[in-house]
Amino acid sequence: MKKLFSRYTPLQIAVHGYAWSALAMLVFQFFTDNLTANPIQALEQRTGRHALTLLVLSLACTPLHTLFQWNEPLKRRRALGLYAFMYVTIHVLIFLDLDYGLAWSFVFREFIEKPRLIVGLLAFLLLIPLAWTSFDIWKARLGKNWKRLHKTVYLIAPLVILHYAWSKKGDLFALQGEIVRPLIYGLVVVLFLALRIPQVRKTVVSLRDRVMGQVRKRGSAASI
Ligand code: HEM
Repeated sequence: MKKLFSRYTPLQIAVHGYAWSALAMLVFQFFTDNLTANPIQALEQRTGRHALTLLVLSLACTPLHTLFQWNEPLKRRRALGLYAFMYVTIHVLIFLDLDYGLAWSFVFREFIEKPRLIVGLLAFLLLIPLAWTSFDIWKARLGKNWKRLHKTVYLIAPLVILHYAWSKKGDLFALQGEIVRPLIYGLVVVLFLALRIPQVRKTVVSLRDRVMGQVRKRGSAASI
């Protein structure tokens, strides 16, 4: 245990621990028949939620750095994004294979009848180039275009939220159905995206500096 903590940071352990333990738990519960009366639906829902959570956590890295001048989340962003992609791939494979038995005509009909699946598909297709080019070799090869390409995550996140909210069939205006969780995820994504707007970031950074200044002043007054 001591060796583990000396080799890896707590954040690193948390990221990898979360991603693999959640998957191990799903596999275990599936094979021991502990996944509700509709295990395939439960698998679909839980892999979808893990994918979304990891995607949102990857979006949190830059704001955490901006707000707290904490550099480590920036180093964990790639792992979070890749784990999100791993879960999405499993989510899609479960849908295609376990749910529809690779019956392509049925799959095609589902996509035609349920636009929320098209939204999910679009998000999935947009995630593929991000996962593929997330390695340093592509960063060097693509230069400035790498950043441009990876900004599509700002489009992907709202698409996923839409896919999620639509899947839950809630009605925001009538406050009916399951709206709380999609709404919370949606607000968090809006907050993280807003923090990337230069004007908002500038205001937040100056606020942070003012608060830090006050804290430091109080600290030095107390030590006199
Ligand atoms: C080809 C692409 C996709 C397909 C076919 C697909 C399919 C589905 C289906 C069938 C459901 C409904 C499960 C149910 O409640 O019965 C669902 C829900 C969901 N999907 Fe997807 N999905 C796709 C892409 C994505 C992506 C890219 C993400 C996230 C990064 C995602 C995250 C979710 C979430 C969070 C839910 C709701 C889970 C819940 O009910 O709590 N999906 N998806």
